[in-house]
Amino acid sequence: ATQRTLSIIKPDAVAKNAIGEIIARFEKAGLKVVAAKMLHLDDDKAGGFYAEHKERPFFKDLVGFMTSGPVVVQVLEGEDAIAKNRELMGATNPKEAAPGTIRADFAETIDANAVHGSDSPESAEREIAYFFGADEICPR
Ligand code: CMP
Repeated sequence: ATQRTLSIIKPDAVAKNAIGEIIARFEKAGLKVVAAKMLHLDDDKAGGFYAEHKERPFFKDLVGFMTSGPVVVQVLEGEDAIAKNRELMGATNPKEAAPGTIRADFAETIDANAVHGSDSPESAEREIAYFFGADEICPR
């Protein structure tokens, strides 16, 4: 079925000037960008986004990293968009990511891992609403 998923191009990939190359991978795989913006997150916005990880030992570093520079948040739409995006990204830890995936090609560490993607329909719905109002999404 057609789905929407939230994608974040993280500060490491933005700093590498890889925004275009990463979005090209989404488009070549048949995903459409139906919303996009660049943001520099603050502690509250990044911490709220990753609220489910609040008790994890890596939470502080995660928020510190995600606020270290601008990010590009997008809504991707397409057939099986959630799983397709996760396939394109590769494993969370770039050292375990399959060759040819975004994280294998652009990421260095589990913290600076280039991209985020929603992991379920429920998280996609929450994450999209966290960054975009209905009037900022352009179905096409
Ligand atoms: P992301 O998919 O954005 O979701 C949470 C992020 O926490 C994850 O990518 C990683 O960048 C980061 N992270 C750091 N350490 C870990 C860990 N041990 N397990 C999972 N995620 C981690």
